[in-house]
Amino acid sequence: MLTIDEAKAYYAAAESAHDFDHVLRVLALAERIARAENADAEIVRAAVLLHDITRAEEDAGRGGDHAATAATRARALLLARGVAPEQADAVAHAIAAHRFRGTTAPQTLEAKILFDADKLDSIGAIGVARAYAISGVLNQRLWSETAPDAVATRDQHNSNHTAAAEFVVKLSKVRERIFTATARQIAEERHAFMVEYFARLEREVRGEM
Ligand SMILES: [Fe+2]
Ligand SMILES: [Fe+2]
Repeated sequence: MLTIDEAKAYYAAAESAHDFDHVLRVLALAERIARAENADAEIVRAAVLLHDITRAEEDAGRGGDHAATAATRARALLLARGVAPEQADAVAHAIAAHRFRGTTAPQTLEAKILFDADKLDSIGAIGVARAYAISGVLNQRLWSETAPDAVATRDQHNSNHTAAAEFVVKLSKVRERIFTATARQIAEERHAFMVEYFARLEREVRGEM
């Protein structure tokens, strides 16, 4: 439906946690999951390539929910390229339903695969890297005791919000939301790595290792 290079052009304004490298990581996972789950590889591929095309606009305060706006735009651009309406609709549904906090639930296998692959990119070693990239932009502390009542926040330096707190309040819960069996297995491995990573980080900070 469209090539990697054609898709890349839509991500020129993206920040490092949601740039075209993110799209390529999600694509590698989604294609692997699609093969294992016997999904429509073409729908999955187009949905992955276009799923965050309006993310930079939302981050800049324009256009509202990027899942909804990207779905509308993807559908229009696929139709303009001569893609069949049923295929364009299937891609648009997957994109509309890809958000962790979204209101549209994934109804098709292809939509579940985009959701799963996108969430897998927020956990494991890459999830830790992304959490620190965001934490650095916000000038948060590298480590602090995580309060038992910690909540997701964008608090900056001198507050106690850290990437480790982000793990407790958010990243540790991602695996519970995964739909497909193939992705769930990957999520369990990535989750276990993060548990080990943050436990070790705490011991290093305390001078125990
Ligand atoms: Fe997104
Ligand atoms: Fe994404």
